Amino acid sequence: MKETILTGIRVNSEPTLGNFLGALLPMVRLANFYSKDHNVNIFVPDLHTIISGVEGDITSNTIRSLKYYLAAGLELNDNIHIYRQSRVPAHSELCWILDCTASMGELNRMTQYKEKGEGKESVNVGIFNYPVLMAADILLYDAKYVPVGEDQFQHIELTRNIAMRFNNRYGEIFTIPAKTLDQAKFMGTDNGVRIRDLLNPEKKMSKSTAAENSKIMLSDDPVKAAKKIMSATTDSLGKIKFDMFNQPGISNLMQIESLISNVPLQDVIATWAGETRYGDLKKKVAASVQGFLETFQSELAKIPDQIIIDQLEKGEKYANEVANAKLGAAQHAIGLK
Ligand code: TRP
Repeated sequence: MKETILTGIRVNSEPTLGNFLGALLPMVRLANFYSKDHNVNIFVPDLHTIISGVEGDITSNTIRSLKYYLAAGLELNDNIHIYRQSRVPAHSELCWILDCTASMGELNRMTQYKEKGEGKESVNVGIFNYPVLMAADILLYDAKYVPVGEDQFQHIELTRNIAMRFNNRYGEIFTIPAKTLDQAKFMGTDNGVRIRDLLNPEKKMSKSTAAENSKIMLSDDPVKAAKKIMSATTDSLGKIKFDMFNQPGISNLMQIESLISNVPLQDVIATWAGETRYGDLKKKVAASVQGFLETFQSELAKIPDQIIIDQLEKGEKYANEVANAKLGAAQHAIGLK
């Protein structure tokens, strides 16, 4: 039996270069590497999406976002399974069963819920129940590794606890996902890297920042994007050194260069050791960003919707088979079947 690596990708809005380099591109590289001998499930948690007001049309957002993965170099093969959560009813069914295994206390402790809804009478139940649906997403496929950002680690630990409790009560049904520490090791250091705001490098690059020169969007004109790099804030220390604390602007540029060129950060650091001319570094990074956007945008334009639709249909057939078998085993263990 092949092991399964699984991740859910949010499709709400157009990513910044920061989201792209910190999450999407590492996921693509991981999938290309592991799909030789693992199942790699990349699914769209569209039922999670509706916990808050939806911007635009979910279906077209889904298709557009999945195209980013292909344009970023995801190499489709029979081990890569792409599907929508809402098209696999077993997710919702297992969620209810796991609801009867999880406790109010443990869900009350989830940071995401605390930030979004704790104590508010009007908050919807979906926000509270979010992590249990996420546990169902993972446990249906016996996924051991679940690449996610650090903000989701608490939900992975919860998934482990729910699975262990279920297994103790009803028998060995679910595979327990790896501990978050091991998950982090598995993902390597690129996943979860925070690309900084170009003008205020103490902050994370964010779509919602008003200043255009603070951020690069994937749809930016490549030449304009290069100019944004040239005008990035640096410092007055006059040496090219990777030091996120004292030289966040320069360090951010080195980080961008490493991820775009797929060269380990240590090698980028070594290349620039002893150099002092910030302009040279900026020119190099600007050229990399421009070249990357040109290729990315032309690849993106070439991908027809139909490729994504076909892929989803194939993935959803597979996902329903695997998920229904696991759901059936859980129902059987409980005595419902
Ligand atoms: N909660 C995840 C996020 O916000 C998305 C997600 C939903 C997910 N279900 C999942 C990730 C299952 C991994 C596995 O990014």
